[in-house]
Amino acid sequence: TTVSVEHALAGKLPVGGEATVRGWVRTRRDSKAGLSFVNVSDGSCFAPIQVVAPASLANYESEVKRLTAGCAVIASGTLAPSQGQGQAFEIQADRIEVVGWVDDPETYPIQPKAHSLEFLREVAHLRPRTNLFGAVTRIRDCLAKAVHRYFHEQGYYWITTPIITTSDAEGAGQMFRVSTLDAANLPLGDDGAVDFSRDFFGKETFLTVSGQLNVEAYCLALSKVYTFGPTFRAENSNTTRHLAEFWMVEPEIAFADLAEDARVAEEFLKYLFRAVLRERGDDMAFITERVQKDAITRLEAFVNAPFERISYTEAVALLQKSGQKFDFPVEWGLDLQTEHERWLTEVHVGRPVVVTDYPEHIKAFYMRLNDDGRTVAAMDVLAPGIGEIIGGSQREERLDVLDKRMDQFGLDRDHYQWYRDFRRYGTVPHAGFGLGFERLVVYVCGLANIRDAIPYPRAPGQAEF
Ligand code: 4AD
Ligand code: MG
Repeated sequence: TTVSVEHALAGKLPVGGEATVRGWVRTRRDSKAGLSFVNVSDGSCFAPIQVVAPASLANYESEVKRLTAGCAVIASGTLAPSQGQGQAFEIQADRIEVVGWVDDPETYPIQPKAHSLEFLREVAHLRPRTNLFGAVTRIRDCLAKAVHRYFHEQGYYWITTPIITTSDAEGAGQMFRVSTLDAANLPLGDDGAVDFSRDFFGKETFLTVSGQLNVEAYCLALSKVYTFGPTFRAENSNTTRHLAEFWMVEPEIAFADLAEDARVAEEFLKYLFRAVLRERGDDMAFITERVQKDAITRLEAFVNAPFERISYTEAVALLQKSGQKFDFPVEWGLDLQTEHERWLTEVHVGRPVVVTDYPEHIKAFYMRLNDDGRTVAAMDVLAPGIGEIIGGSQREERLDVLDKRMDQFGLDRDHYQWYRDFRRYGTVPHAGFGLGFERLVVYVCGLANIRDAIPYPRAPGQAEF
């Protein structure tokens, strides 16, 4: 029977029975006793399986002894308890078929040794073959499936929102334009500006920065919804926390206020971390050994302690009293920088913090104005080691207040007519948040750079493959 390596190692197959595994060689070691040990990985779990190849194999000298890292093989034999360290079972092969050789093994980029992350980013198409990217990939998958499972269990509907859009959901002007116009021959209007009415959609279009505005429409009919998809931001921040293309999870909840929003965010994050602890012990053990010593214990601490809640105003006072030297100024009305966020969550509280009620002028137009007239019902969830991981808010459900805020931000009411409709027809209080999916992966895997948390990173000057 052909089985995955995970299945073969799980101890559920009859020992002494026949098993076939298919995968790629990690290492080959030849013993003096005239045997070779070939470790084969198929990515189904962290561990490779050891295939013991006796010299009696017909192709032992001609092929088995030429196997190098990366060769594709199909190995069949007897499943046996293993004498070797670190694995319970091995396959004592009676047949090894080489399906694909590695051309020029000396120059094959993925050698069985530690590679720098910078180097691996240059060979992003080959890095899934490494231990680290195998582990990160399986953890990312585990998190994505847990996202859908959490919302499914809680009665939310998954809504896909458009990737091509005309609206700047965050009003921050960080959109990538989508156009089929010929750059060498742009149609110009009377005013000398590009005439987008001649473009594919008959108007200017962009890649979405957030599915929120679109998902609000479904929230105001199906009550509990979420979107989970790619989002794009042309922010020129060449940092270890920003990508130009990232995935965002955005639930939206009808009849919810900010306190309920924060409660859901906390429950949701804890659910995701529990899923990783339960399902990806093998990969997390590797992360703990090689990347982040306390990777497991800090997730356990995270799920077992309540998040702290403080207002922005309190946070500013704490930062000012901290005696800490920051690069950026701390003053009521200025946005919190990563260094401030990290001080709050790491030094001051030592666990995740929800900061609420930010000054209205530093947050998006759709956030609900508080009674003080100076702050909005916004929240950021800050996690130790990374800072902001979630941003959310209660939405402004009052049409007159929303209109004022759109004016204040210089947004064209006509353009947001459809969004205003939600406030005209059966408006209700509602709230939601956005979880940056790669920031979540960075946190769980203890990665230093968000470019290692997504298969194909897109950042300023970086768009390979
Ligand atoms: O705080 P943001 O901008 O919020 C929104 O987009 C809202 N529409 C969400 C909502 O209420 N439905 O982004 C949400 C999260 C951030 O907390 C961060 O984790 C992540 O998205 N994020 C990024 N991740 C990677 N690269 C970037 N350039 C990111 N920008 C935001
Ligand atoms: Mg934010």
